[in-house]
Amino acid sequence: MDAPRPISTRWLAVAVTFAAACAACGATFRFVQISDTHQGPALHQWRYRKAVSEINALPFPVECVIHTGDIVCNGVNSPEVAGVAAEIFGLIAAPKIMCPGNHDLLFQYSDPTNRFLRSAAAYETFFGPLAQAHETSNALYVAVCTESIRRKAAPALPGFDPLAWLEERLSRSPDKPAFVCTHVPDCDDYRDGSFVPAWENAENLAAWRALLARHPNVVAVLAGHFHRNACVAQADGPPTIVAPCFASFWQRQAAYRLFTYEEGRLSWQDVYVEDPPPGTHINRLGFAVDPADDSPPPAHPVDTAAETNGG
Ligand SMILES: [Fe+2]
Repeated sequence: MDAPRPISTRWLAVAVTFAAACAACGATFRFVQISDTHQGPALHQWRYRKAVSEINALPFPVECVIHTGDIVCNGVNSPEVAGVAAEIFGLIAAPKIMCPGNHDLLFQYSDPTNRFLRSAAAYETFFGPLAQAHETSNALYVAVCTESIRRKAAPALPGFDPLAWLEERLSRSPDKPAFVCTHVPDCDDYRDGSFVPAWENAENLAAWRALLARHPNVVAVLAGHFHRNACVAQADGPPTIVAPCFASFWQRQAAYRLFTYEEGRLSWQDVYVEDPPPGTHINRLGFAVDPADDSPPPAHPVDTAAETNGG
């Protein structure tokens, strides 16, 4: 069977819109979501760098860039992987926030509890707090780790309660559109012939959804994890919108998502990132180089510049 052809159309528009009930709904602004960069394979670094350069060159301002997790590909303890991922994220010129995914906070293999706690600590070292927020005159953006509550058996993370953090942060900005970002979507996933909840822990999912319902200014939950598009209307609160990925697994083409909020309506367009020509040699930092020259370039400073909770 022939391999899927990459999508050459620069913009893939989605026509679905939502109305938000909020005092600031008359504003018009844009922001960007990136997800599932899975840093580790050289091609993923290359895609991430190219997308960041394109985002920095957008011909209009963006209020915020949000990374919804799976920043690395099981390498959060490695400076060779997480350090490079943090360096690339730091190149984004706009304000930026992020939260971890299941490939950042690992809960698997032998002694998963200890591995989970150690990877959370490593994540904070390289990327900052487990919940982050950015507020503008137009909107509130939050990125919150839910890995400890959406799994059935994961331990609590010391000093970090995702639900308490989110409740407090949303309560401080009740009159602006709010975008709640996390990694695993709080909706059903259709796979292997049936719909199944993406969150394993039904009790915590109900508490999360009830929290969102108490804040009618939440426009949407923005997530990743599926490595494909999804938009799910939910009867108990805001819809869940799932972004495409950067990772090449399942022969996916990299794309970032450009949101526009205009007079109470949210819409988005996915912007595809073209891969390098076949045969291009990419070094471990994600630069196309001569095969004989694999030396790393100078490092760039890391500056997340996000409001944080210290968790
Ligand atoms: Fe992922």
